[in-house]
Amino acid sequence: MAAQNLVFFFIFLSVFSGEQRGVEGLGMGEKKLFVFGDSYADTGNNRIALASSWKFPYGITFPGKPAGRFSDGRVSTDFIAGYMGMKTPIPYRWRKQLAGRVKYGLNFAYGGTGVFDTAAPYPNMTTQIGFLQQLINDSVYTKRDLETSLAFVSASGNDYANYIAMNGSTAGFPTFISSVVSQLAVNMRRMHGLGVEKIAVGSLPPLGCLPLNTARSSFRQCDRAQNALVDLHNQLLLRAVANLNNQTNSASFFILDFHGAFWTVLNRTHPHQGNPSFENPLQPCCMGVSAAFSCASVDENGDKKYTLCSNPKSKFFWDTLHPTQEGWRAVSSTPAFQNSLRQLFQN
Ligand SMILES: *[C@@H]1O[C@H](CO)[C@@H](O)[C@H](O)[C@H]1NC(C)=O
Ligand SMILES: *[C@@H]1O[C@H](CO)[C@@H](O)[C@H](O)[C@H]1NC(C)=O
Ligand SMILES: *[C@@H]1O[C@H](CO)[C@@H](O)[C@H](O)[C@H]1NC(C)=O
Ligand SMILES: *[C@@H]1O[C@H](CO)[C@@H](O)[C@H](O)[C@H]1NC(C)=O
Ligand SMILES: *[C@@H]1O[C@H](CO)[C@@H](O)[C@H](O)[C@H]1NC(C)=O
Repeated sequence: MAAQNLVFFFIFLSVFSGEQRGVEGLGMGEKKLFVFGDSYADTGNNRIALASSWKFPYGITFPGKPAGRFSDGRVSTDFIAGYMGMKTPIPYRWRKQLAGRVKYGLNFAYGGTGVFDTAAPYPNMTTQIGFLQQLINDSVYTKRDLETSLAFVSASGNDYANYIAMNGSTAGFPTFISSVVSQLAVNMRRMHGLGVEKIAVGSLPPLGCLPLNTARSSFRQCDRAQNALVDLHNQLLLRAVANLNNQTNSASFFILDFHGAFWTVLNRTHPHQGNPSFENPLQPCCMGVSAAFSCASVDENGDKKYTLCSNPKSKFFWDTLHPTQEGWRAVSSTPAFQNSLRQLFQN
């Protein structure tokens, strides 16, 4: 191991040794969690030199420095693992350096990706599933390991952002939404075919409420047209999951209710039973000084081209796309989300 790699190794050890606590734990010792998808779930797969998630101020709350999560701290994967009473699965890219952690599963999610190609050179979901298949072929995981495993699938809208960027409009969107959901169903069926016991896909949050889409109203109004398209996606997803359970004559496929959970938190105007309400929840903590800049961007002299709020804990959104750790904590403790998690472990 080169000296440089050794330094990295210790950084990673310190980053990934933090166990997630505080969420209702079910103590399922031998379970494995496999994670597929995008930045809402990624815990560090993107390239250090390229991704904002590896730049200050990402990671300032946890682990205290940039570590590849698209937030100031923990993300959805960490809270789901915490609920299962297990350590967060390490990113796929560290499977060799942190081989001892592979027994808890792996995170194959890459920020920016979709079910279709949206973020070259990062792997789309089909390729991410191929990584798991390769590890099964290589006997890193056995059939037996997979019998008690859970897949968490995060497809949070990069396909749609890419479609709008390529096409310049939302014309033809309903057709595209059904092709995204169909591909998602193909992917989930393939995970089941590999032997994964349970597969949980997140419903799409109200994307029209992302700071990216509320900036033009000074973070006051969600984009209703986009939220209507989100509703269509979620209806089709519900149907797809029912069909998958029917076709496989099983109860292996589930939806995690991010949609209801986000709305619950965004609509909350007062703290409720120990859960926070966020002051102007649509306004992010970290944002570029103009549309040309994003959180973490600096100019050639290293001067910041973004502003940072004084207390990330008081904000729901971290940057123009992603919740803060406190935002994810609030989302994952809503009744909507807890109920959908509980269903997963009912039998
Ligand atoms: C995913 O990426 C692979 C490799 O680049 C490509 O062959 C495949 O067509 C892509 N799949 C989808 C569904 O876009
Ligand atoms: C794994 O093995 C199967 C069956 O032998 C083969 O079809 C597939 O291409 C292999 N996949 C990978 C990613 O190695
Ligand atoms: C743009 O929209 C048309 C239908 O309106 C569709 O056929 C085409 O595939 C879309 N392009 C992209 C890049 O998604
Ligand atoms: C699947 O759907 C078919 C046709 O709609 C229905 O007859 C059958 O009972 C369903 N099977 C299961 C396992 O739900
Ligand atoms: C939250 O508010 C939105 C918009 O006013 C409404 O459509 C939605 O039903 C509410 N959802 C929840 C869970 O409170």
